[in-house]
Amino acid sequence: MPDRYAVIGHPIAHSKSPLIHGLFAEATGQDMTYETIDGGAEDGGFARALAAFRAAGGKGLNVTLPFKLQALAAADDASEDARLAGAANALRFDRGRIEAQNFDGIGLVRDIEVNLGVPLQGRRVLLLGAGGATRGALLPIARAGAARIVIANRTPSKAAELARELAPHLSGCAVEGGGYDALASGAAFDVVINATSASLSGAAPAVPVSAFATCALAYDMVYGKGLTPFLKLAQTAGAARVADGVGMLVEQAAEAFAWWRGVRPDTGAALARLTVPLV
Ligand code: ATR
Repeated sequence: MPDRYAVIGHPIAHSKSPLIHGLFAEATGQDMTYETIDGGAEDGGFARALAAFRAAGGKGLNVTLPFKLQALAAADDASEDARLAGAANALRFDRGRIEAQNFDGIGLVRDIEVNLGVPLQGRRVLLLGAGGATRGALLPIARAGAARIVIANRTPSKAAELARELAPHLSGCAVEGGGYDALASGAAFDVVINATSASLSGAAPAVPVSAFATCALAYDMVYGKGLTPFLKLAQTAGAARVADGVGMLVEQAAEAFAWWRGVRPDTGAALARLTVPLV
């Protein structure tokens, strides 16, 4: 019997995870299946689906919106990345225990450093947004050796609060948070990452063009939307390179796959299949 894996979310039909893990399994010769589970909109839906999947012998789950917080809460053990992110995006079921990880941030860092060739060591990084996506990215970016992280958010107090809360965990990386107007003083960044949900509604965060003056890479965490208003703004403002989040999606999947199966898949084929040109 093949080992069973799945991604759980609501809605879930759009998920690319079955395609990605199918390619990984084929390339590495793993005897496994990977399905989608809709956890539904009702209270308790996630817990019921989780229990049923484990009872049926499931080995691991990817978790997407809106269940990442519940997934962490359901775990017996959680990695530091998951605890600091306050959310889990991968679960593993092992000898009656539930282990939780959050690979979104490490997937982002691997995409930036390995696929896009921009090392974060010593870089000044601007993170736009102060929600779950930013929270999950902070520790992996600091661990990669960034010199300084600034969090800018539409609601400045959320950015300031997040910076205060996570600063003690960021291994000496300077972090501060505030509003977009605080960037008007002209501070420039090497890497600017859009972790807001603005692109989903066709908007761009109100980041001043001066922030891109020395920008080697502007990165939008959304994927498959082409050149988003944020990426257009970054290009016009002089960013040397722009990228969307397709590589983050594929790399976080590779991390989960390696954690479950003990084999690291090559991500090239999945990246080639999912990349939508940025026009
Ligand atoms: P996620 O978990 O994906 O990060 P979230 O927790 O809902 O999602 O956070 C969404 C982020 O996008 C927030 O930082 C939000 O700003 P506020 O905290 O001020 O709400 C930001 N955001 C959403 N739409 C935006 C827009 N049109 N312009 C700028 N920021 C936006």
